[in-house]
Amino acid sequence: MNMNLTLKVWRQKNAQDKGKMVEYKVTNISDHMSFLEMLDVLNEDLVNKNEEPVAFDHDCREGICGMCSLHINGEAHGPDRGVTTCQLHMRMFKDGQTIYIEPWRAKALPVIKDLIVDRSALERIQHAGGYISVNTSGNTQDANAILIRKSDADKAMDAASCIGCGACVATCKNSSAMLFVAAKVSQFSYLPQGQIERKERVMNMVEQMDKEGFGNCTNTGACEVECPKGISLEFIARMNREYFGAKIVSEK
Ligand code: SF4
Ligand code: FES
Repeated sequence: MNMNLTLKVWRQKNAQDKGKMVEYKVTNISDHMSFLEMLDVLNEDLVNKNEEPVAFDHDCREGICGMCSLHINGEAHGPDRGVTTCQLHMRMFKDGQTIYIEPWRAKALPVIKDLIVDRSALERIQHAGGYISVNTSGNTQDANAILIRKSDADKAMDAASCIGCGACVATCKNSSAMLFVAAKVSQFSYLPQGQIERKERVMNMVEQMDKEGFGNCTNTGACEVECPKGISLEFIARMNREYFGAKIVSEK
């Protein structure tokens, strides 16, 4: 089925501009299209009319890179569950519907242009601890030869599925990045390879999170609901335990 839609899109020339919602019409949109393909149609129309296309972030278009961060009708990544904006299909909408499209709203993720936010705060948190040390002396043990309990490997993989999209921050009423940071801390904490920096990792990443101006977690759980990768709140509890454990040792 093909649809005609009204779009209310956030347009903002640059970081200093106040920005406003602008209305557009798109016609003949197939329900098989992805949400980003629908935006491509809008941009083709705008370019044909010599108007400025809408700037929006995307890369892989298959739910991997975490770039396609949009608030759609007030929900991070739109009305579907367990998908990113690039995986959202137009069949989730109805012919004649009005769709509101906005960038993430959080002080630590400021808008650069239209629907694109500066996500470098998330990168800086990763840089503060999202790595491991590997002995490259020539005696390095093959990772496949290190035994890891299946339950720990599964948990590490669950945590590692975080794509850093920032939907948790955008959804949280406090703009907290706890779910993101908890996933990044937890994925290493379950594995032998992550033990060398275990204590300094959690302290450095939490400290960087606070420096970047993200809010505090008040356990409302909205982040878990909107996370496209199903990252569980249990990782936040694990990160809190990691953090207090590391803090106690460092203050002894
Ligand atoms: S925890 Fe989920 S919502 Fe938050 S950045 Fe990772 S994948 Fe995105
Ligand atoms: S474009 Fe990569 S996750 Fe959507």
